[in-house]
Amino acid sequence: MFDNWDELKSACLECRKCGLCNGRTNVVFGVGNEKAGVLFIGEGPGENEDLQGEPFVGRSGQLLDKMLDAVDLDRHKNIYIANIVKCRPPKNRDPLPEEQEMCIDWLRNQVALIRPKIIVCLGRIAAMKIIKPDIKITKEHGIFFERSGVLMMATLHPAALLRNPNNKPEAFDDFIKLRDKIKELDL
Ligand code: URA
Repeated sequence: MFDNWDELKSACLECRKCGLCNGRTNVVFGVGNEKAGVLFIGEGPGENEDLQGEPFVGRSGQLLDKMLDAVDLDRHKNIYIANIVKCRPPKNRDPLPEEQEMCIDWLRNQVALIRPKIIVCLGRIAAMKIIKPDIKITKEHGIFFERSGVLMMATLHPAALLRNPNNKPEAFDDFIKLRDKIKELDL
């Protein structure tokens, strides 16, 4: 475990713990304010993220930014965004359980240093890894679960919303719940 953010980041950028390192252009460490009270966790970088070295910069990232803006959140100011795996899986397949396991200590260390009060999991993969393995995201999104003093909520992945725009209102409701919780906790 690193107790210094810059040292953690430097070590992560050199990571070769799993095979995903062979196909990467960039390690996607994360973006935002590491002193923020709210941490968003996605699944893993896609093509644009791999090229730019920043999470959620493609089409799903544009949608995420719009949803954040709707509840006065800004990726560079009052949240931090990271992923379960830091390197792009080939052809954007789901990260394998062993790849998630190899990578998760980087995220654990990020969580230990950020000490967020709220974690929002974007999509099934992050929700299963962070909240509970048997989460049913279609039924349990928008619910706050408490884990060791941290509130954790899953919401629908922006890429899933691009595929099924009918679900956007449900996801927006989750963001409203998040905004209300941020107010309640005075974050
Ligand atoms: N999808 C994710 O889960 N994370 C990203 O960074 C980009 C797309």
